[in-house]
Amino acid sequence: MKKLTAALFAGTAALAFAATAQAEADGEAVYNQACMACHMTGAAGAPIRGDADAWSARVEQGIDTLYTHAIEGFGAMPPKGGQMGLSDEEVQAAVDFLVEPVM
Ligand code: HEC
Repeated sequence: MKKLTAALFAGTAALAFAATAQAEADGEAVYNQACMACHMTGAAGAPIRGDADAWSARVEQGIDTLYTHAIEGFGAMPPKGGQMGLSDEEVQAAVDFLVEPVM
């Protein structure tokens, strides 16, 4: 009986996790895959994640402007980091992750 309860619980937990993962894009995973190459190194003049000086004026524009610039491109920043297969929601989640240390 104990075993059955444990198995049921594990099944429920796995379902709950899958539902959450679907509803919410994983910003860190998208960042690691699509943004890090520039935003960790400063390549092409990209503001580095966690660099408060580089981000202060950008963050002042408001998060919606940052979302738009990340999705549509901005200066040397390619639209969606060049990965057009990403959804807008995934790019927004990556922006959240990118600016999280400086907000
Ligand atoms: C090829 C390099 C490159 C990649 C890949 C890249 N970026 Fe950028 N990003 C830049 C550069 C360069 C800038 C600075 C643009 C400027 O100020 O002219 C920038 C600026 C930004 C800004 C600030 C825009 C503003 O209004 O100041 C955000 C937000 C951003 N990137 C998000 C992302 C996200 C999210 C991803 C991944 C989906 C990503 N970037 C991938 C190069 C890149």
